[in-house]
Amino acid sequence: MKWRILTSEEKMAKMEVKTSLLDNMIGVGDMVLLEPLNEDSFLNNLKKRFDHNEVYTYIGSVVISINPYRSLPIYTPEKVEEYRNRNFYELSPHIFALSDEAYRSLRDQDKDQCILITGESGAGKTEASKLVMSYVAAVCGKGAEVNQVKEQLLQSNPVLEAFGNAKTVRNDNSSRFGKYMDIEFDFKGDPLGGVISNYLLEKSRVVKQPRGERNFHIFYQILSGASEDFLCKLKLERDFSRYNYLGLDSAKVNGVDDAANFRTVRNAMQIVGFMDHETQSVFEVVAAVLKLGNIEFKPESRVNGLDESKIKDKNELKEICELTGIDQSVLERAFSFRTVEAKQEKVSTTLNVAQAYYARDALAKNLYSRLFSWLVTRINESIKAQTKVRKKVMGVLDIYGFEIFEDNSFEQFIINYCNEKLQQIFIELTLKEEQEEYIREGIEWTHIEYFNNAIICDLIENNQTGILAMLDEECLRPGTVTDDTFLEKLNQVCATHQHFESRMSKCSRFLNDTSLPHSCFRIQHYAGKVMYQVEGFVDKNNDLLYRDLSQAMWKANHSLIKALFPEGNPAKINLKRPPTAGSQFKASVATLMKNLQTKNPNYIRCIKPNDKKAAHIFNDALVCHQIRYLGLLENVRVRRAGYAFRQAYEPCLERYKMLCKQTWPHWRGPARAGVEVLFNELEIPEEEFSFGRSKIFIRNPRTLFKLEDLRKQRLEDLATLIEKIYRGWKCRTRFLLMKKSQIVIASWYRRYAQQKKYQKIKSSAIIVQSYIRGWKARKLLRELKHQKRCNEAATIIAAYWHGTQVRREYRKFFRANAGRKIYEFTLQRLMQKYFLEMKNKMPSLSPIDKNWPARPYLFLDSTHKELKRIFHLWRCKKYRDQFTDQQKLIYEEKLEASELFKDKKALYPASVGQPFQGAYLEISKNPKYKKLKDAVDEKIIIAEVVNKINRANGKATSRIFLLTKNNVLLADQKSGNIKSEVPLGDVTKVSMSSQNDGFFAVHLKEGSGAAGKGDFLLSSDHLIEMATKLYRTTLSQTKQKLNIEISDEFLVQFRQDKVCVKFIQGSQKNGNIPTCKRKNNRLLEVAVP
Ligand SMILES: Nc1ncnc2c1ncn2[C@@H]1O[C@H](COP(=O)(O)OP(=O)(O)OP(=O)(O)O)[C@@H](O)[C@H]1O
Ligand SMILES: [Mg+2]
Repeated sequence: MKWRILTSEEKMAKMEVKTSLLDNMIGVGDMVLLEPLNEDSFLNNLKKRFDHNEVYTYIGSVVISINPYRSLPIYTPEKVEEYRNRNFYELSPHIFALSDEAYRSLRDQDKDQCILITGESGAGKTEASKLVMSYVAAVCGKGAEVNQVKEQLLQSNPVLEAFGNAKTVRNDNSSRFGKYMDIEFDFKGDPLGGVISNYLLEKSRVVKQPRGERNFHIFYQILSGASEDFLCKLKLERDFSRYNYLGLDSAKVNGVDDAANFRTVRNAMQIVGFMDHETQSVFEVVAAVLKLGNIEFKPESRVNGLDESKIKDKNELKEICELTGIDQSVLERAFSFRTVEAKQEKVSTTLNVAQAYYARDALAKNLYSRLFSWLVTRINESIKAQTKVRKKVMGVLDIYGFEIFEDNSFEQFIINYCNEKLQQIFIELTLKEEQEEYIREGIEWTHIEYFNNAIICDLIENNQTGILAMLDEECLRPGTVTDDTFLEKLNQVCATHQHFESRMSKCSRFLNDTSLPHSCFRIQHYAGKVMYQVEGFVDKNNDLLYRDLSQAMWKANHSLIKALFPEGNPAKINLKRPPTAGSQFKASVATLMKNLQTKNPNYIRCIKPNDKKAAHIFNDALVCHQIRYLGLLENVRVRRAGYAFRQAYEPCLERYKMLCKQTWPHWRGPARAGVEVLFNELEIPEEEFSFGRSKIFIRNPRTLFKLEDLRKQRLEDLATLIEKIYRGWKCRTRFLLMKKSQIVIASWYRRYAQQKKYQKIKSSAIIVQSYIRGWKARKLLRELKHQKRCNEAATIIAAYWHGTQVRREYRKFFRANAGRKIYEFTLQRLMQKYFLEMKNKMPSLSPIDKNWPARPYLFLDSTHKELKRIFHLWRCKKYRDQFTDQQKLIYEEKLEASELFKDKKALYPASVGQPFQGAYLEISKNPKYKKLKDAVDEKIIIAEVVNKINRANGKATSRIFLLTKNNVLLADQKSGNIKSEVPLGDVTKVSMSSQNDGFFAVHLKEGSGAAGKGDFLLSSDHLIEMATKLYRTTLSQTKQKLNIEISDEFLVQFRQDKVCVKFIQGSQKNGNIPTCKRKNNRLLEVAVP
């Protein structure tokens, strides 16, 4: 088996669901299926669909389109794709379905097509035609060349709309001309080009617009959109109100941007292929037309009584002439005179004011309408197919619909005539098509009763008795011709026609019909009665332009204007009257009809839901009126005359095969046989259907709806069945899936659990193993560590030992010691230096020298001080070492004296400088004291004269004071007799004052032998020496310290009494000698100077 990947298109085709118009229908999508069929049901069906935004409804293959007056999202590229290559009845009704059908039968079946779009003004014809064109453009071939053709065809619309459309009360963009466009395709269906035909432009609009309406768009577009520069070139001003031809009451249209549209139009003209100079010429003509309206005339009476007119302000005329290159005088003359040429004669008459205005307006109208026709021709030139190959044609006809106004004039008459013709062709073609289909399918054709409007067409167009013929006859008739004479003629000729009504007709039927004014006639059109005002018929039919004007135009130095008025060429002067407007129109309608008849028709019937141009409003009366005059019911009837519904066997079987067991789900045989089986099984009465060659024909919609109901019911059952099976399948697959999943999960879980278990055992084994290994390893490690430690210890010991040895050997080289060494060295050096310097700076050896060199280093501060101290001590020692024993003794005594008296006795300082001589009295040498000398065998320590103070009066007596090793002796100075001898052990104390006196008291131990006479109060100049020596001697003899009391008041024992000796600061009356006085028994006062 071979596998093949499907292409995306095949996939799409497989996915494509067969749908039908009958699916989800709102109301009925095809009026043929309407039951019961009457005006109300028809209207209600349309309304219902309109309310649900279904603006398209079919009558068989005819599309009814209701203008939604708002943009619906049904024209998107997606929608185009949806409808592309689908059968007509497959999807809900749409203009795209009709376009697709037409395009495909053109491309595939080689049938030329025409799309006839009809409906009243504002019903959406032009929009519909554009939709058809854009659909065809979207689905037909692509490529640079093809795209350019498409673009040109599409862009012809804005150009023609700008020049041929205007705002009317019914439609803001009303086409004021009929348009038929043939789009030409090659055999592949690629567009080659096109041909546009225009019909009867409403040129009267150029000079006058009904209230609330505008002139053609282009005038407003130029004034709003052209640059100042361009306007200046055209000699125009932007202000609308400057121009008489522009109706002012609705110069601006809501939602229309004239300026932007102007740019669109210029762009479109460029795309279509207009050369710049052509565009320029076109706008010059437009400007000239506009300015023509501003030319005004005033009356001027001539002597011969004939009225004459004159141009009021020639400025405008001058500008027009400059713009168009016309000789001003020629044009001025053309507005004042009219030349009538007959045979060889030339008669010139003056024009009065009214005639001048008539001439002006006629010129403006002609200029504009000819410009419009020229534009169409020019566009055709551009869009014309370039090849000579055989072409397939699709014609699109967008022509004014049936018009019934309050005042209907010549224009309405011919428009309605055209619609009458279209209706005729519609009926003919529909019937023909119907009949052809019956024949094709081999179904017996039954005659259908319908209203044939040929009779009305005949009333209008009959070459002898038709209204148009009458009008022409009147126009060509010599003599006075007026609209009334024309009406009279009609009254005579058409009086008996059953569709002609007139008050004055010979037939007295309408004599009393007051709704019919005398100046009117009424025609009973297929779509309703229309009353026409006869006024203007003759004039409009004549469509006269004075020859002088056309000649003036021909003379213009403006190629376009010249070309527009070929009859102005005097060389080609044609005295024959030009064909009337009516006959021209009749001829072109005839050509159109002929053209249409050769093509396969497709109809779009446009309906306007309300008069307000508003969305969502459905005006029953208005729509009903349109249904009526469009003959839509008639249309349905024709379509339903035989069989209401027909469908090819395949789709029919496909749609209903589920209703029969044999055909469901698959029918193997031919589709027709399947349908036969199906219909037999369903017991559908035989008269209800007929088998054609390729289609089944169903007579009544009822039968179709019955089939639809059955299908619906069956679909529900099938849906339930499918649902049931689907649910079962879903549950089962789910169950199977779950089961499978469960097994998968279980296996995975088991695996997981085993894995877990294994991992646990494995990890336990590993743990046990690791413990054992650990234990073993630790044991080994311990041993190894021990061993290692032993080794290390040995090594360390060895290392230390070696280290010690090495260090010992190398210590001196160690850098670590260097610092200390350097430090010590430096220190030593410093000390050395210090000491050397000190040596040189040493002060003298005198102990009293206070000089000492300054300290050189801070760190030697304490050393320096210490050195100073040591040096001083050493110097002192040195000094002391010079002393003899004698001197030493003296100094010892001096030292003792200092200790005893320094700072205590004022006399002391004076004694310091005196050397202690001791033996002041040289007893041994003086014979006087021989006896005394002998009495004292010991060594005399002191021998001196002292004053002994008398206790009674205080008077002094000289005595010799002797101190020996053991005693103190007092002897008489003269005799040398010893007066008192006191052993040193009996001397208890020596008292003295603190002052500068030599008084002192020697206190004796009480009860001793010497104490009988009391203590001695003595005075000596050498008191300090004496007291010191006494003290020393006593200490060395008695080993006791003699008490020396220094006080300015002390007690002295005199025999039994104690007398107080008091030292006072006395006067100096006795010089420096202190005086002693006995004050009373108890007080002895010593005045010390
Ligand atoms: N299919 C549509 N969708 C949305 N709006 C629409 C559609 N058809 C028509 N219209 C609206 O209705 C307006 C009138 O439509 P259109 O010009 O096609 O009317 P018409 O039948 O050509 O009238 P006339 O005979 O005056 O030219 C459009 O300008 C547009 O606003
Ligand atoms: Mg239109």
